[in-house]
Amino acid sequence: MEDIDNAYNKIKINYADDIEETISNFSKFWKNISSKSFRLSNTRIRRELEIVIKKLFLGASDNEPISSTIDVETLIGSGKSSAYLFKLAPRVNLNSSLRKYAVLKFGPKFEVKLESHNYDKYVEWFLTVQQTVKKIAYEETANFAGLLYGFPMDSDRGFVSFADFVRTKNVEMSCNIIEELFSTENKHWLAIDGTMYKHKVPTDTQTYYIDYGIRATEESITNEFEKLTASLNELSIKRGAKVLKVDDTKKTITIAPISLTIPNPVKYMMLPYTKRIDLSLVHGDLHANNILIGTDAKTNENKCFLIDFYYTGFGHIFRDFIDLELSIRYDILCSRHISGDTDRLTRNDSKDISNSGLNLLKQLEKDIIKYHVNGLELDKESQTYKDSRLLKVYKLVTTIRNMAFMNFPDRKEQYYTGLAYSSIKAIKYFFPLDVKLYRLMISGLYFDLVGKPGAGNIQ
Ligand SMILES: Nc1ncnc2c1ncn2[C@@H]1O[C@H](COP(=O)(O)OP(=O)(O)O)[C@@H](O)[C@H]1O
Ligand SMILES: [Mg+2]
Repeated sequence: MEDIDNAYNKIKINYADDIEETISNFSKFWKNISSKSFRLSNTRIRRELEIVIKKLFLGASDNEPISSTIDVETLIGSGKSSAYLFKLAPRVNLNSSLRKYAVLKFGPKFEVKLESHNYDKYVEWFLTVQQTVKKIAYEETANFAGLLYGFPMDSDRGFVSFADFVRTKNVEMSCNIIEELFSTENKHWLAIDGTMYKHKVPTDTQTYYIDYGIRATEESITNEFEKLTASLNELSIKRGAKVLKVDDTKKTITIAPISLTIPNPVKYMMLPYTKRIDLSLVHGDLHANNILIGTDAKTNENKCFLIDFYYTGFGHIFRDFIDLELSIRYDILCSRHISGDTDRLTRNDSKDISNSGLNLLKQLEKDIIKYHVNGLELDKESQTYKDSRLLKVYKLVTTIRNMAFMNFPDRKEQYYTGLAYSSIKAIKYFFPLDVKLYRLMISGLYFDLVGKPGAGNIQ
């Protein structure tokens, strides 16, 4: 122990000014989610952070530190979940211009440990080896743990999230990335047959998507739906027009401003869709912010780096494809990061809903079904073709699906059913009303497409 204490004492941590605030936000967040029995002071959290960092930089065999000074700052853009991200810079280099940085994901022990375990067990060997950030090390303390990752291409700059990338770069570049990511040549994505053994994952569509996709119970999602309907009805009164009509006898909803009647997803999801699903190893949370794109300064080549493996493990073969296509619609058409209000089709708040935006979104979704689902070329006269924003999303969504179907051409029904379920999840989150309506719309349209259980509408 003494040796370790000695070694610890040799390591100095240099915190940037922002650390105090980060820790304080962290502890506030913690207090909200934890039970009474778990209250940790800022000092305690900071102490454990310090031990984690010191352990990470202690030599393996001789208890001598690898670095005697480590600069630590908060990583911009982090802090949305229970873990916090820090940028670490040990002063170890012979030449200070060759400094290397790393990312520390620090958070509740249970969660960070699981992510670390998932990485070791699944990521490098089975999921992908060249397309992730590198895990460097893991250390834990009494309540917390830290996972040290490399930056994309070992540099703290020169990369963007795929969400930013799809927004700002031309669509062909983004499609190339998708094709490379899901290429059947990679021998990792969808390479593992998850139905061969009994894992804990449910093997029927309905239970899988409710428990693992939406991560809700029937009761909680019905509750969210009722809250959403109440807000929309309130809006209707203000507007003097009906916005959403829920017809329980017919199990449909009508979105009045865009004259659309679709199956009520919250009713449909409870129908016995007990069809068997095919499982493989999946990332499990593959939205476009969990993919980083690094560009090689010399060759200009773009490379993919997956991050965030908390949900990685066995799951539906199409899970990642579905999550990514839903994310991309949001990133390009709805996100508050879209520059220029005219490019955004949904509102930034819930004071109203955008009729014109929702109408365009309806057109996009109908065109995806009318053309791509039915195996046709997009008509040059269609609204989707004529609107550059819609066309971009059309191309990306259909590229994702083509990659999925290249792997499993005969399981399209599983894809569309999974999509119908996954899309409902948005009503749980803090999205503006019209974004939630958009997601309900997608869900309803695909439940309509696959039909009632056993209808066999589609292969
Ligand atoms: N290895 C990394 N390199 C660069 N940025 C990273 C890295 N890991 C995480 N980040 C940044 O931190 C954010 C949150 O990290 P993530 O692992 O996705 O945690 P969360 O569980 O909070 O989503 C990411 O969206 C990304 O911006
Ligand atoms: Mg993330």
